[in-house]
Formats: sequence, structure tokens, C-alpha cells
Amino acid sequence: MTSLKMSQEDTNHFNECHEAFALREKALDTFTDWASTVFRDAVVSKIALDYVKDGNTGRKRLEALGVGSGSGEIDIMFLEQMVKKYSNIYFTSLELSSENTALFKSKVSRGTIENVTWDWKQLSWDNYRFYNVKSREPKLFHFICTVHSLIYIRDVDQAVMNMYESLDDGGVLLMIVASEESGSYKLRTKFPQLYIEDGLSHVSSAEVRKILKTHGIPHQILSQPSRVDITTVFQKGRKEGSQLVDHLSKRVNFLKTASPRMVNEFISYLKSPQCSEREQQSYLLVNDWDAFIVTK
Ligand SMILES: C[S@@+](CC[C@H](N)C(=O)[O-])C[C@H]1O[C@@H](n2cnc3c(N)ncnc32)[C@H](O)[C@@H]1O
Repeated sequence: MTSLKMSQEDTNHFNECHEAFALREKALDTFTDWASTVFRDAVVSKIALDYVKDGNTGRKRLEALGVGSGSGEIDIMFLEQMVKKYSNIYFTSLELSSENTALFKSKVSRGTIENVTWDWKQLSWDNYRFYNVKSREPKLFHFICTVHSLIYIRDVDQAVMNMYESLDDGGVLLMIVASEESGSYKLRTKFPQLYIEDGLSHVSSAEVRKILKTHGIPHQILSQPSRVDITTVFQKGRKEGSQLVDHLSKRVNFLKTASPRMVNEFISYLKSPQCSEREQQSYLLVNDWDAFIVTK
């Protein structure tokens, strides 16, 4: 079996597998609804601050930060809601992938969001934080969001605490992570040997809840159900099924390269009620996520 850290060919393969999963996941539809309903009430309305002064113009502005923005669709949805309330937003995006940042920029250039100044930084959270705290005037934020990106950060405990410290009084930190009840998280727990080399952290709502509790940080958790149709995984010879398995196992061509015993155990567990629900002839992977809302 081959793990995720590898050649360009394998990287391309995983991008295709991720696309196949994303098509079935319909995550953007879910987020479109979530941003215009839950986010508006549970996040935007909670930001309680006096606008800070913008040194250049004398106008007041809201400082917002996206950590691991990807190609920006979801951060843009959040900002579309925020501009309804705030007329001057400075949005800093941290994203490691230059391809993703290029996509983000092109979406913004085609879009209609006004009153946002965009600042794209190709930096990891740790590096950004390091430079920010060392600067003469460390920046504090009124809104920080990190959507399905904490899993990419090695020391999640420290990252959560540093994000909290980076909030200004009255600011809101929004962290979205896979639910501990989600099938993809349970697969990682059940088959840890598959994921050792993929470089991702073992993070779900359980770990984030524990971190916040340990540090005595009050928070609200909003749970969002999500189901992904993975029926083709259980139909022999289906290309999409094989791609979905590779995406979930983080292994190239898992069905052909893993031992028959491992394939059998993995597929059986994926099909079981631990991970999936049955709906008539279909199997739906439980893919719920939780939003942690921390106000300061
Ligand atoms: C799963 S994607 C989520 C993208 C976006 N937030 C979304 O939900 O569509 C995670 C993103 O975090 C970025 N990333 C990985 N490690 C990072 C780090 N240490 N700091 C900031 N971003 C990181 C990756 O390049 C990737 O685009």
C-alpha cells in the first residue's frame, strides 16, 4: 500500500478521489444554507466590539482571519454575511497551497463582495502566529474561522489556544471539525495503521471539546448532520467506488494493493451501522460535523 506523502502522480490521484467524494458530499450546498441561517445568528450576531480605527483612512474596520481557507468558497460565504453588518472588513487568509489561493483570488475577482480588503498569505498558521506575536503591534482579530483545517495542524491544543489568544475582546472564534460520530473519523480510530503517514492529526469534535474544557473556555457547539452516498463502494468494479475508498483510506488503489483481510475488514466496517446508514438500496456515510463557537 502507498500512503499520501508521495509523487505528483499520486497527488493527482488523491485530488481526483477528493473530487469524487466532494461531488457526493454536496458540502457547498450544506454550507450555503448554514452560512445564511446558523452562521448569521450564531456567529455574526455574537461579535461584540467597537470597530477599531484603521490607521490609513480613519475609518473603522473589522479584522477577520481565515486559517486554511482552501479555495475560499466557505470563507466567502461567511464574508457575504458579515458585510451585511460591517462596512469595512480586512480579511487575512492563511493558505499553504498556491493553487488554492489562486482559485480563491479568481473567485473574489468575479464576485460582488464590497467593503472587504483581501490579504492572502501563503503561510501556515504556526508561521503566521510566530511573526505576528513578534511584530511591534501584534494583530488581534474580531473573527477567526478555521473550517476542516485543524486536522492539518500538528499541535492542535496549542493552535486552539493561540487562536483564542489572537481574538480581540468581543471577538468570535469559529472552528469546524468532523464529528466524533462521523464515519471518516471512526475509520481513523479503527484503522490507525492506515493513517500513520498521512501527516494529519487525530482531530474530531471530541478532541476540540476536551481542549476547550481543559482550559476552561466557554463555548457553544452546533452539530450539522451530513450524509454522503457511498453505495458505489459496495458495487464491484465501480471506478467511483474505488476513488471513494482511496479518499477514505488515504491509500492509493487500496482495494487492489491492501491485503484481502484488510480490504475485507475496512469495507465491512465502512458498511456497518458504525459508519453508514442504509436508505433503501443506498449506503450513506455519516459525515456529520460540529461547529465550535467561542466568544471572548
Ligand atoms: C480540508 S482543506 C479546507 C479548506 C476550506 N477551509 C474548506 O473547508 O473548503 C484544508 C486547507 O488547509 C490548508 N493548510 C494545511 N496546513 C495548514 C496550516 N498549517 N496552516 C494553514 N493552512 C493549512 C491546506 O492547504 C488546505 O487548503
